Amino acid sequence: MSPPKILITRAVFPEVVERLARHFDVESNQDDAEWSPAELAARLQGKAGVLTTGSVRIDAALLAACPDLRICANMAVGYNNFDLPAMTARGVQATNTPDVLTETTADFGFALLMAAARRITESEHYLRAGRWKRWRYDMFAGAEVHGSTLGILGMGRIGQGIARRGAHGFGMDVVYHNRSRLAPALEAECKARYVDKDELLRTADHLMLVLPYTPGSRHAIGAAEIARMKPGATLVNIARGGIVDDAALAVALRERRIAAAGLDVFEGEPQVNPALLACENVVLTPHIASATVATRRAMAQLAADNLIAFFEQNRALTPVNQ
Ligand code: DGY
Repeated sequence: MSPPKILITRAVFPEVVERLARHFDVESNQDDAEWSPAELAARLQGKAGVLTTGSVRIDAALLAACPDLRICANMAVGYNNFDLPAMTARGVQATNTPDVLTETTADFGFALLMAAARRITESEHYLRAGRWKRWRYDMFAGAEVHGSTLGILGMGRIGQGIARRGAHGFGMDVVYHNRSRLAPALEAECKARYVDKDELLRTADHLMLVLPYTPGSRHAIGAAEIARMKPGATLVNIARGGIVDDAALAVALRERRIAAAGLDVFEGEPQVNPALLACENVVLTPHIASATVATRRAMAQLAADNLIAFFEQNRALTPVNQ
């Protein structure tokens, strides 16, 4: 019997392509060519599986055009690029890559928080521009991180990693809001206190967004929420673009109602709102929170594991539907 055909939609580690080629008839996009939805649909003809990244949209129209498709293995923990109800209705398995990126992503959240609160990139730009002439008492004086109040919106695995770093490493008072409250033992371990969203906004010196993107979380931080945040607070988004109203945030940054922000994700990325680009008090990174070599390798291998287990053992390892 000939092996199932699969498509790898973006460049990945060569050893992952080689490994998959030992199990499947593989077409891969190692040149990382930009495919239109029509080209993606054409390449998916006859394919039973696909390895995607978060930038590859799998929607109802694509699924209808690709009737042989049985599994989409996303190389990301988030899967808002999938139309999950349409996949489930068609019996298409969806998988993601949880756990392997938790600590790395939490590290990066903290890095962005430190960089924004302590004005690291802003001051580096100043130095590189040759503007540093002498020391001054208030030069790039930022906000205190240790001992301050850290607010976390979304308390999944990454949120818990951020809480542990804040509470245990920086002596922060950690408050969180989530759809459901953590078990008491986990709250104690994270040293985190559950509060309603209003209290979170009002009390956090630094607010970290780690919630999944769903239609319900779109603009969870918009103009009204920003107005309720503590004056001079820091906002960090390592979740998904669209959770923050970037235009409203740019206004608040410009007016210094929000002292600083750290953003790894953007509405409509890779485009970035020009109003944000014009703000000095925001640290901007191109969706790299999980980007260490080891973690990206683990993510790619887990996506490959899902494809192999699905076809050879009839069960996905980390399913998100069915
Ligand atoms: C994820 O895993 O969801 C990261 O955002 C990378 O896409």
